[in-house]
Formats: sequence, structure tokens, C-alpha cells
Amino acid sequence: MRSIQLAAMLALALPLLAQDKKQVEYGRYLAEEVGKCQECHTPRLESGEIDSSKALEGATLNFGPLKPADKAMEKWHKNAPGLTPDGKLWDKWKEEGIRNYLITGLNPKGGKADIPMPTYKLKPADADAIVAYLKSLKK
Ligand code: HEC
Repeated sequence: MRSIQLAAMLALALPLLAQDKKQVEYGRYLAEEVGKCQECHTPRLESGEIDSSKALEGATLNFGPLKPADKAMEKWHKNAPGLTPDGKLWDKWKEEGIRNYLITGLNPKGGKADIPMPTYKLKPADADAIVAYLKSLKK
């Protein structure tokens, strides 16, 4: 009887785990290959290459505006915050705030992020995948 219950639980849980892994991988793909979040949010090594051991932990940009005198450039933000659950943003916004931001492009106060953060308006399933990937980066 016990082993039947165990087998049933495993049969239910294994596909779920496989699905979670797939979602995290898809989220990583969206973040790295489509959104290119790491270009701004991951610190770089001295060589200038992205330090993948610190994925999305927050960074100071290595580029700046060409026309700093433009009015719009006053909002230029040279620091990109950490996006992993270990960062302050996650504490402040919680998972729901980050998910919502990725869907609407609006922060919990209803405003947009400063440049050069692009505005993304993702499908809920894609935002869920990125959030799942961000969670997987918890140290
Ligand atoms: C071109 C550089 C760049 C790219 C690419 C980029 N970001 Fe950002 N991001 C920034 C900067 C700079 C800020 C800080 C803006 C601010 O505080 O208003 C920021 C802020 C954020 C914030 C907080 C927004 C706020 O209002 O405080 C979140 C969440 C975020 N980025 C997520 C992402 C995700 C997820 C991706 C990839 C899908 C991404 N970013 C790609 C530069 C970038």
C-alpha cells in the first residue's frame, strides 16, 4: 500500500518538477537572449565580459548617453538594480510587483523606470517564466 502511494506521488511530482525546470530554462532564455537583461544588470569582469557567477545581481552601466545635455537625459540612471531574490528590489516589490512590472511596464507606484531601462510588456506566461528564472538565482 505504502509503495503504491509513493509511486503515485512520484508519478505526480516528477512531471511537475520537469515542468518547473522547463519554465526556468525558458525564463533564462527570455532574460538572456531576448531581453538581454544581463547587459545592464550583471556586473562585469575587469576584461569587460559579463560575470555570469553574479547573474543579475545589479551593476553600474559601462556606457552613458551621447548627448548628456538633452533634457530627457536628466533621467539617465547609471545603476541597474539587482533582480535576484537576494536584492533589495525583491524585498520592496515582492514577487507580485516584479511580475506585474514585466507585464505592464509600471512599477508598484504606477510609474515607469528611468532610462535606459527599456519598457517591456510581456505576456503573463513569459513574465512568470522570467520570475521563475530570477527565483532560481537565489543564493
Ligand atoms: C539597457 C540597459 C538595461 C537592460 C537591457 C535592462 N535593464 Fe532593467 N534597469 C536598467 C536601469 C538603468 C534600471 C534603473 C532604472 C530606475 O531605477 O528607474 C533598471 C531597472 C529595472 C527594474 C526596476 C524598475 C524600477 O522602476 O525601479 C527592473 C524590475 C528591471 N530593470 C528588470 C529588467 C529585466 C527583467 C530586464 C530584461 C528583460 C532588464 N531589466 C533589462 C537597465 C536595463
